[in-house]
Amino acid sequence: MKLPKLKIRNFETEYPVIQAGMGVRVGDSTLASATINLGGWGTIASVGLGDIEKSKVDFVNESNRVLVEEIKRAREMTNGKGPLGINVMVALSNYGSIIKAAVEEGIDFILSGAGLPIALPSHIGDADVALIPIISGGRALKIVLSSWKRKFNRQPDAIIVEGPLCGGHLGFSYDQLDDPDSCSLEILYKEVKEVMEQFDCDAPILAAGEVCSRADVEKFIKMGYDGVQVGTYFIATEEAGMDIKSKQVYVDATPEDVVVVHSPVGLPVRVLNSALVKRVMAGNREKFGCPYRCLRTCNPAKVPFCIAKALLSAWAGDVDNAIYMTGCNVGPIDKIIPIKEFFDTLAD
Ligand SMILES: Cc1cc2nc3c(=O)[nH]c(=O)nc-3n(C[C@H](O)[C@H](O)[C@H](O)COP(=O)(O)O)c2cc1C
Repeated sequence: MKLPKLKIRNFETEYPVIQAGMGVRVGDSTLASATINLGGWGTIASVGLGDIEKSKVDFVNESNRVLVEEIKRAREMTNGKGPLGINVMVALSNYGSIIKAAVEEGIDFILSGAGLPIALPSHIGDADVALIPIISGGRALKIVLSSWKRKFNRQPDAIIVEGPLCGGHLGFSYDQLDDPDSCSLEILYKEVKEVMEQFDCDAPILAAGEVCSRADVEKFIKMGYDGVQVGTYFIATEEAGMDIKSKQVYVDATPEDVVVVHSPVGLPVRVLNSALVKRVMAGNREKFGCPYRCLRTCNPAKVPFCIAKALLSAWAGDVDNAIYMTGCNVGPIDKIIPIKEFFDTLAD
């Protein structure tokens, strides 16, 4: 089949592919700009960007400073082409400030999840920016749509549906995650579509989770989705922001290494069974201080590890102290590739 283009608000791209927001620093300006230049939607993850020492003094402004730098860099590498977006987690303590900084810098779209992005429109003023909530089912979408309609008279420009096999934080109960067929992306499409119809909203709907090939993209398009969001498969690309030692961990991983643990964010999170994860699952607590509260939902006195520190270790290649967020789809990752190799398979 010929793949459709993807139109959201002011942009239409050659391929129906959004590069997932991946913190900390995995989805950076290099990965985002490469994706845009190849005909997809590039996303800079806004979490954990700031220099640690400067963040200790002024977390909010330091986070904004580096985000703006990243946006400028991506614009340079794409000749300002777009569509360039940010991903911002609702759980972040600097949520509103990050969005404001990105909007002032002229970002094209905002992806927001890890919590319900009910307040998202309140932070953009009258900016012409595409708003894309990330949800895990019809119930969550209904809450977002009714709240946006009531408070802002605004509809989303697209919807990302994160399925139960996704990487990162998961909007499902542990029971659902034990039985992913009960909430598959096929089932979720039907319930999301129904809610969209109730609200007279015809925004594009994108599937997130499990995408590693053109065949996967076609599968979701045939299901009714307008496109896909790709995370894990893009980690082992030359362009992703992560030390090569950590990329190799994904190359070497098998599906048996994938586990779900409780995250300090307050949600289940899918990760590789790294040395740190094994220590935590054995009941140990990692030593850490919390110099700035990056998450509203985290209680540093109670959680067994600092997720920001562990993700930063992944970025830096400190394998023993890292947490590796992942989807279930590590099997097909068998070498580090230029991201162009994936996009080349999408051309007709
Ligand atoms: C390493 C990693 C980091 C992630 N970071 C974020 C993030 O900062 N914000 C967010 O909303 N989702 C995050 N996610 C979830 C992705 O945006 C995406 O929806 C998911 O990975 C899609 O499934 P896939 O990985 O199977 O392709 C992350 C996922 C991974 C694997």
